[in-house]
Amino acid sequence: MTYPPPPTSYEARVKADTNAPVRRAITARSVVAIADITRNNINQVRKLNEVLLPVPYSPAVYEQVLEEDTNPICKLGLFNDIPVGNVCCRLEEGKDATMWKVYIMTLGVLPTYRCLGVASALLEYVLDVAGPSKNFAGRKIESVYLHVQISNPVARMLYEKFGFELVDTLESYYPSITPSSAWVLSKHT
Ligand SMILES: CC(C)(COP(=O)(O)OP(=O)(O)OC[C@H]1O[C@@H](n2cnc3c(N)ncnc32)[C@H](O)[C@@H]1OP(=O)(O)O)[C@@H](O)C(=O)NCCC(=O)NCCS
Repeated sequence: MTYPPPPTSYEARVKADTNAPVRRAITARSVVAIADITRNNINQVRKLNEVLLPVPYSPAVYEQVLEEDTNPICKLGLFNDIPVGNVCCRLEEGKDATMWKVYIMTLGVLPTYRCLGVASALLEYVLDVAGPSKNFAGRKIESVYLHVQISNPVARMLYEKFGFELVDTLESYYPSITPSSAWVLSKHT
């Protein structure tokens, strides 16, 4: 089986009309859920990211996803039991040894399943267990942050809806995609 080539940037898409009758019928009968990432489904996560994100992630990243401390903040998003998206975060040193920063490495949902609340469910989960000032993996969470390519206002809107703020714009952050600049969005206490 051949898969489509990965995207070359984080494309903005037109928002689906959430009031269209067919859309309402789908959402009324659907269940969005989140599931653990395990050794048995990690290749599903890898494949989702390959088709969703223009930046490749090394095998070391997927090993880290399975580590005890980070695994609880890495989840698959299910739409009617079908894995359609994922969020993968890592822990970074905070300002001292009592704090962690959570870095969102990946967040993506397959195009057909967008605007159905899957990314929101994944983000909500991460903020619930490891949001700012929560206790997680033996330390307090200082902030949750991530990079968004500046051509991706949809992702920025999603994060802003969850209280993230623009804290920086980095030029030439992405070496292999255009535009190469990134917004840094952060949520802190
Ligand atoms: C960004 C992305 C993860 C959103 O996933 P999703 O499951 O469609 O998001 P949700 O349905 O939970 O939408 C949540 C909010 O995001 C914003 N949003 C999502 N899609 C949007 C669109 N096409 N246009 C405008 N706003 C949009 C809205 O604020 C929306 O809230 P609302 O429905 O109350 O208006 C998805 O578009 C995606 O995978 N994009 C490609 C990969 C990517 O860009 N990842 C982020 C990189 S950091």
